[in-house]
Amino acid sequence: MNYYIFTFGCQMNVSDSLWLDRSLQAMGLKPCNVEEEADIFLINTCSVREKPEHKIYSLLGRLQEYIREKPHVFAGVGGCVAQQVGMGFLERFSFVRLVFGTDGLVMVPECIRRLLEDRHLKISLLDFQDHYPERPECWPDSSPAQAFVNIMQGCDNFCAYCIVPYTRGSQKSRSSQNILNECFELVSRGCKEITLLGQNVNSYGQDKNGSEISFAELLKRVAGLPGLERLRFTTSHPKDIDREVIRAFGELPALCPHLHLPLQSGSDRILASMGRRYTSGDYTHIVDCLRTSCPDIALTTDLIVGFPGEKDADFQRTMDLVEKVGFDSSFSFKYSDRPGVPAEKMHPKIPDEIKADRLDRLQSLQGSLTRDRLAQRVGQEEMVLIESQSKKQGPPGTVSWTGRDPGGRLVHVHLPRDRDCTGEVLRVAIVRAHKHSLSGEVVTC
Ligand code: SAH
Ligand code: SF4
Ligand code: F3S
Repeated sequence: MNYYIFTFGCQMNVSDSLWLDRSLQAMGLKPCNVEEEADIFLINTCSVREKPEHKIYSLLGRLQEYIREKPHVFAGVGGCVAQQVGMGFLERFSFVRLVFGTDGLVMVPECIRRLLEDRHLKISLLDFQDHYPERPECWPDSSPAQAFVNIMQGCDNFCAYCIVPYTRGSQKSRSSQNILNECFELVSRGCKEITLLGQNVNSYGQDKNGSEISFAELLKRVAGLPGLERLRFTTSHPKDIDREVIRAFGELPALCPHLHLPLQSGSDRILASMGRRYTSGDYTHIVDCLRTSCPDIALTTDLIVGFPGEKDADFQRTMDLVEKVGFDSSFSFKYSDRPGVPAEKMHPKIPDEIKADRLDRLQSLQGSLTRDRLAQRVGQEEMVLIESQSKKQGPPGTVSWTGRDPGGRLVHVHLPRDRDCTGEVLRVAIVRAHKHSLSGEVVTC
């Protein structure tokens, strides 16, 4: 039996799909790279904006056509849209025989076994658990150089625009012992870089089950694992980032000098109606403290344009703050109404042409900031963790590879042919800055 996994959405979905992949392989099922060879499709969905949600329906429509010829083939739909639409998928698409939310993920491998045994069965796994559902691991002999480790599930913040607290449930921190054990297992199998994942990692341990250590203490303990070269985490909320975490950037050698700190808007009025619980002044204060603790820190962010009631002056404040902070890069989105969230009922809605124009202006400002920030790296030497071969052409006898520097910037290097460099950490002299990346040459010692 072959399976094919489609993954949409954030790194937590990527991490969930990777776990599913390991578990299905351990059951003896085979992953396939070609859709036509699949007997089981698993679709891990995202509903953060309308567009990714629509993609799921067009994918299911396409699969329905294709599966018509192959009645034994079935699909499971999981993740945030599944949690939202639930049984609707089972009713609307006969070939969908499994729906699962994030808390149900842990039971998916066992349910697939049952679905293979009984062709008439359909299963729904949509209940939320009141604790972090620990997932059994089947560790392969060696680990990839980079890995994600979940430290929590869900979110209690209910930002006015956001569907995540409804699709991922309330915040549940995972036990620090289990987190440390997983990190230890990964590092002992050769993992060099760990990214700790959660919707709001800075409130780790503060939920109702929380008799846990603080996030800063967790960082210290993970960073102290012998053999771990790089530690990252995402995502942070500005209202919860504390002094200890800011200090950690200057104190823990393994902690990479990069923070993704979603700003969303530069207008205090809009931040208040988003329910973000910080002001633009609080944000710039955090940035100043971060740069004091770690002068070289790379800062990236998320921004929303056209939130209900956003005036030109509010948008201008976002532009001003983005320029003032000088983000290395940012993800920016047009506000998108989500069913059942408070902002759905907020007015006035901003017309799409205005949102598109604001997004354009914001992205072109970010483009020039990114170019400036990248140009500053030229002439420096960076340790680059090589991730994969790139499509770029290298000089004869070489192959072009891409990796990331500690700040998370993409770096291209040419390396001799006939060598798999995945997972190597190389000293690279940066020689050129491009629009979104850097190029460098390996420094031979
Ligand atoms: N937990 C993370 C982000 C989750 S969603 C955090 O709190 O930062 C990722 C990003 O999607 C958000 O930061 C926000 O910028 C964007 N986003 C969320 N809901 C949105 C909506 N309804 N419309 C447009 N963008 C949205
Ligand atoms: Fe959504 Fe806000 Fe929670 Fe992030 S912190 S997941 S934006 S509700
Ligand atoms: Fe999307 Fe769910 Fe992540 S809505 S962004 S997959 S938490």
